[in-house]
Amino acid sequence: MTHYKVGYLVGSLATASINRKLAKALIRLAPESLEFSEISFRDLPLYSYDYDADFPAVARAFKDAIKAADAILFVTPEYNRSIPGGLKNAIDWASRPYGTNSFTRKPSAVIGTSPGAIGTAIAQQQLRSVLGFCNSPQMNAPEAYIRFTPNLITDDGEVTVEATEQFLRDYMEEFHAFIARVLTVLPRDA
Ligand code: FNR
Repeated sequence: MTHYKVGYLVGSLATASINRKLAKALIRLAPESLEFSEISFRDLPLYSYDYDADFPAVARAFKDAIKAADAILFVTPEYNRSIPGGLKNAIDWASRPYGTNSFTRKPSAVIGTSPGAIGTAIAQQQLRSVLGFCNSPQMNAPEAYIRFTPNLITDDGEVTVEATEQFLRDYMEEFHAFIARVLTVLPRDA
């Protein structure tokens, strides 16, 4: 299997984030040929195009981290039926200055978990819309709306329900295959 570097963004800044637990589980269950590094957006200021003439170092580092990745994985909660504000702010930073959109041709996948019955489905659809505008080829299937029940995933990312564990393992195998397909058609230096 070809080796790929995956940058992942956890949409939550909360210390006890269930989406961070999900991210840990996905990393544990992913094929060994995927290498993960978190791309944090915690320290980004609120974006304004006033910054475009001189991006702060933290924003340049953020864009560089996306550039260095072969693909991006979004693991996000749903806040008020939408994308968490911090994550949207980060995407806005990455998309600018005009003409330097970091997501162009960058394969991505979206997943999330919530205690609610629809498991972040609406936030994910909105994130997909944003990523579409940002010209990121997205894995369409499988979709993954994970309803979080108490202890479903431990703090270390161990999944306690076998069917969910297998589903997440399959999801990451599909992501590997998707990255390979996209980068075959759109090689990174093209
Ligand atoms: C929520 N929550 C929530 N859940 C959901 O399924 N749909 C929603 O629209 C919302 N809205 C919402 C808004 C805000 C401001 C908060 C703080 C929470 C509940 C949410 O799913 C729950 O807090 C999860 O634990 C959030 O994921 P993280 O941050 O723990 O990863």
